[in-house]
Amino acid sequence: MNKKTVKDIDLKDKKVLVRCDFNVPMDENQNITDDTRIKAALPTINYLLEQNCKVILCSHLGRPKGEVLPEFSLKPVAKELSKLLGKDVVMANDVVGEDAKQKAENLQNGEVLLLENLRFHREETDNDPEFAKKLASFGEVFVNDAFGTAHRAHASTEGVTKYLPAVSGFLIEKELKFLGDAISNPERPFMAILGGRKVSDKIGVIESLLEKVDVLLIGGAMAYTFFKAMGYGVGDSICELDKLDLAKELMQKAKDKNVKFMLPVDTKVGKEFDPNTESKVVKNSEIPNGWEGFDIGTETIKIYSEELQKAKTIIWNGPLGLSEFEQFAVGTNSIAKVLADLDAVKIIGGGDSAAAIEKAGLADKFTHISTGGGASLEFLEGRKLPGIEALLDK
Ligand code: ADP
Ligand code: 3PG
Ligand code: MG
Repeated sequence: MNKKTVKDIDLKDKKVLVRCDFNVPMDENQNITDDTRIKAALPTINYLLEQNCKVILCSHLGRPKGEVLPEFSLKPVAKELSKLLGKDVVMANDVVGEDAKQKAENLQNGEVLLLENLRFHREETDNDPEFAKKLASFGEVFVNDAFGTAHRAHASTEGVTKYLPAVSGFLIEKELKFLGDAISNPERPFMAILGGRKVSDKIGVIESLLEKVDVLLIGGAMAYTFFKAMGYGVGDSICELDKLDLAKELMQKAKDKNVKFMLPVDTKVGKEFDPNTESKVVKNSEIPNGWEGFDIGTETIKIYSEELQKAKTIIWNGPLGLSEFEQFAVGTNSIAKVLADLDAVKIIGGGDSAAAIEKAGLADKFTHISTGGGASLEFLEGRKLPGIEALLDK
């Protein structure tokens, strides 16, 4: 990475403002249902504590759009973080108001303060310079460790870097290392598995990966747009009729580039969008009217599993079916199990894909599971991430 990290700058005894991505899923009672992103921030926070810093953390949670809404408070995160750090985290009742300022002033070296949800102020997403300046006034140095928010040019990711020396934390460094190495220097065969809901969400990723991979395996709802483009009926499956030409172009491009472009040969269809709906496996060209494709089929699982055995590097983005419903998570879980046992570099990028792997209990079998949803997609597309661009060069 050509950006400075916390290791490239003297932080001893400093006041440090740290942007984290604590945008974690919560249930209706504000219980955190997955603390992966909080755990991922610990190495940087612990390092700053070792350097005897005053650590002032900030993050967004959800999209409260400038309103102060209690259900979007970061208080549950402060609690969880205290537990994980084994030390009290002071929680501010506001972001840049009197309470935050006072608590920051009273903060001692080796202590941690968490500001309230940045998005309680519209100025955060507007990247307002005055707001960024107020945030910057909390620290002498800025550390960005919010990989999941690095694709947003907001006050706390981009604006603030105009007022403070800005370096990356260990999480951003790690994400760029794994995602970057896989893309730019993969051991071959290099294969990508792409699933998810829509072709239109993934056009950039498909195009970018077609330049790099040897094999592209398609699953998820986006497969039906390709089926339709091949002239098959797709019943009630999710299908983007305005993307048929694009689907054809992508398949042609794969041919031109000698990339093996694999589509499911069969699919599991259901009667209704319901976890317990009647279902059956049919050939890709034989989806009956009135049925909807929710997963890849048994034969596809077999063919994809065999192909993946040959891979040395695999990037996976997007579940291969409606993985929130158990009977349509079979494709995703079967392929996850196959990868778990493979001796290869295995990387997961994408919010729902990461959640599916966590749910299957296979997270520790993967080389790297990105904490970024949109950010990892944009990175795989080859786009520059403003939160990282803004950091000091090495
Ligand atoms: P990621 O977050 O990993 O990038 P996406 O957001 O693109 O993945 O897609 C995930 C969503 O797509 C999940 O909610 C999943 O249920 C849905 N999905 C995948 N395949 C299907 C399908 N065949 N029918 C309906 N929804 C599907
Ligand atoms: C995410 O969960 O992808 C990040 O925290 C960014 O959130 P956003 O899409 O609301 O900007
Ligand atoms: Mg998603």
